[in-house]
Amino acid sequence: MTSHDNSKDEAGVNTRLAHLGPSPHDFHGFVNPPVVHASTVLFPNARTMETRDQKYTYGTRGTPTTDALCDAINELEGSAGTVLVPSGLTAVTVPFLAFLSAGDHALIVDSVYFPTRHFCDTMLKRLGISVDYYDPAIGAGIETLIKPNTRLVHTEAPGSNTFEMQDIAAISAVAHRHGAVVTMDNTWATPVYFKPLDFGVDVSIHAATKYPAGHSDVLLGTVSANAATWPQLLETHGTLGICGSPDDSYQVMRGLRTMGVRLARHQESALAVASWLEGREDVARVLHPALPSFPGHDLWKRDFKGSSGIFSFVLAADSPEKFKPKAHAFLDALRYFGLGYSWGGYESLAVHVGLGDRRICKAPAEGPVLRLQIGLEDVADLKKDLDAGFAAAAAV
Ligand SMILES: Cc1ncc(COP(=O)(O)O)c(C=O)c1O
Repeated sequence: MTSHDNSKDEAGVNTRLAHLGPSPHDFHGFVNPPVVHASTVLFPNARTMETRDQKYTYGTRGTPTTDALCDAINELEGSAGTVLVPSGLTAVTVPFLAFLSAGDHALIVDSVYFPTRHFCDTMLKRLGISVDYYDPAIGAGIETLIKPNTRLVHTEAPGSNTFEMQDIAAISAVAHRHGAVVTMDNTWATPVYFKPLDFGVDVSIHAATKYPAGHSDVLLGTVSANAATWPQLLETHGTLGICGSPDDSYQVMRGLRTMGVRLARHQESALAVASWLEGREDVARVLHPALPSFPGHDLWKRDFKGSSGIFSFVLAADSPEKFKPKAHAFLDALRYFGLGYSWGGYESLAVHVGLGDRRICKAPAEGPVLRLQIGLEDVADLKKDLDAGFAAAAAV
């Protein structure tokens, strides 16, 4: 099946992932795109150089390698255009810089990825942009927070570390009525499990570092815009001189081919571990949107096609002084779970999350919050590992 075959839109997700992107026949039949390393691009004559009337003009403005990935992401997101940036964090900050100016106001979900909050509270503030944080459960009620100068509403669902869901369609409808652009950090679900633009979002943001790359060895971000917002996003991207590297773009393109299969495994294993944790007396709560007990479960079920491999649980502790010692004892007893940030790779990870930045979605009172990224290992081994963690925490 070639990339020009319309029947692809109806194909299953793994078929689409295997065949998206440029046609191999554009590269002499080689199934993967070439890795083009470039700054300079030559023009055939002075006239073409003056008018820039050719497909490629300079390395920062795209190459066949970055285009291959952008085309693939556009197919997945249903977007008018995608830009690549060097990390997931830049995938958040570039659209903020594209759509916000001095004197504007932005609404940011309180369960946001912490470095996004830091960017808002430092850089945006310095640029004269005011920010308010809102409750992820607000839905259409966001109307009460909109000011005449509100230009951007940023969503992230599920939220970082505590996994609150959001009614993306309701929030987008209200934001659009007031002329604000809606951005969404969709890293958790990937466009395989949620397509933000279908729910009214203007700009879908992805840390391709996570599931698309999938092997904990690449940093890359993608920003995908609808037709209305694409020209401004592209202009800002070019003005900032930000671009994705050819090798990282190639690796992410490669990762996309297996992402559906990996996600299915992450989903299955994470749900098995989450349900097992829910039955334990030493666990106060499991924060996973696909569990029926989770407050945002109905929204997840209504809008999402699946769940990925990262969630949190609250380790039961009888007093706040024990939160940190218990969390540390638990983490230090783990053998297969690495202690590390990031996620979306093949290996399991655990972290004691800090929620001190929250203004509305406060930290649970029952104990420390431990975030687990469930990798591709065998679930029985992971449970054994976690059992050792619980035994160590119980001894504190
Ligand atoms: C939800 C979310 N968005 C964005 C990022 C940033 O991605 P990167 O590590 O590529 O900067 C992360 C990283 O952990 C994340 O969890």
